[in-house]
Amino acid sequence: MDEFNPPARLLMGAGPSNIHPRVARAMMAPLLGHLDPDFLRVMDDVREMLREVFQTRNPATLPVSGTGTAGMEASLVNVLEPGDTFVVGTNGYFGERLAEIGRRCGAEVVTVDHPMGSPVDPDALRASVASLKRVKAVAVVHAETSTGVLTPLEPLAEIAHEAGALLVVDAVTSLGGVEFRADEWGVDVCYSGTQKCIGAPPGLAPITLSERALSVMRARKTKVQSFYLDLTMLQDYWEQRVYHHTAPVSMIYALREALRLVLEEGLENRWARHAHSAAALYAGLDAMGLAVVAPESHRVPSLTAVRSPEGVPEADVRKYLMAQHGIEVSGGLSALAGKVWRVGLMGHNSTVSNVFTFLSAFENALAAQGFEVAPGAGVAAAQRSVRERMA
Ligand SMILES: Cc1ncc(COP(=O)(O)O)c(C=O)c1O
Repeated sequence: MDEFNPPARLLMGAGPSNIHPRVARAMMAPLLGHLDPDFLRVMDDVREMLREVFQTRNPATLPVSGTGTAGMEASLVNVLEPGDTFVVGTNGYFGERLAEIGRRCGAEVVTVDHPMGSPVDPDALRASVASLKRVKAVAVVHAETSTGVLTPLEPLAEIAHEAGALLVVDAVTSLGGVEFRADEWGVDVCYSGTQKCIGAPPGLAPITLSERALSVMRARKTKVQSFYLDLTMLQDYWEQRVYHHTAPVSMIYALREALRLVLEEGLENRWARHAHSAAALYAGLDAMGLAVVAPESHRVPSLTAVRSPEGVPEADVRKYLMAQHGIEVSGGLSALAGKVWRVGLMGHNSTVSNVFTFLSAFENALAAQGFEVAPGAGVAAAQRSVRERMA
């Protein structure tokens, strides 16, 4: 068997995203035992920095081993018990996944469905919650990666809390790239993934639990059905150092370095950088005559879904971008499969230079499929947008 040398790629899809060389280097550091006192310090550093990134004081903040879906599953299996009522505001593929996991927990799942491309409507959610008896939790996806739509969280926390329910939030595509304030906004359970705006490889799911969430977990009548994702046991490992499972040591090194980079840059600066490069991308796409799925008022700067024009073979454009330019973008999910491209500007990759590179390659890939746009129009508009914002 040959040595595997991955080709160079600019990862501008829905994640993973390219990582900073410092994060790659951190992963190569010598292994320590996962109960080594020196590694315990690394664990404490990670928890402290995660609190900062989530904007929370929750002591129960840690990275779950596994990708974003492990965070989603951990959130639900620890909160929900069979027969509990669970309300999910769905507006895309990942909201549907939350509902599916809720059903697998034996909960009575009520979905408040929205068309793909719309944010979750607080009034619709309020009406649904008010019509039900004893709702245990309400969940939404902050940044719906299937559409690039952002749902504001503050009004939703009020709705959940008035009903005595927890607010569970998916921040997989937002955390570290889009404003997020767990405590101020009243979020009780929030999970994310490391491979997007946090800027580490896939493999960990940061999670944070409010005191309200912990008391719901303490009051459970049944054991959490998953041993691996039992957050009470995981907290005992992260706090009391009681063996639970062997922590993925190198991934935790990587996350530590990625979080250091996030905080060195400063959260607000990082959010502003993501907004800045996204604005350049929107300007470029608009000049190319391409439509963004999300309404201007509710866009996720780290992920843009762009409608593929009638007659343009969506998958062939992606294949061309990859083969000729080494650029990965993602296709659509569920009802948007074959109809959109999803362009990520996440973490280390969220730069205006990457926007210029992408728009130029995209123009070429579209032309190769017979869709001609005014030459250079996208890049020129993106450059103008950058100059105007810097002025
Ligand atoms: C909003 C959202 N939630 C959950 C997930 C699942 O994360 P993972 O693929 O890391 O398991 C993703 C992945 O793209 C996502 O975008």
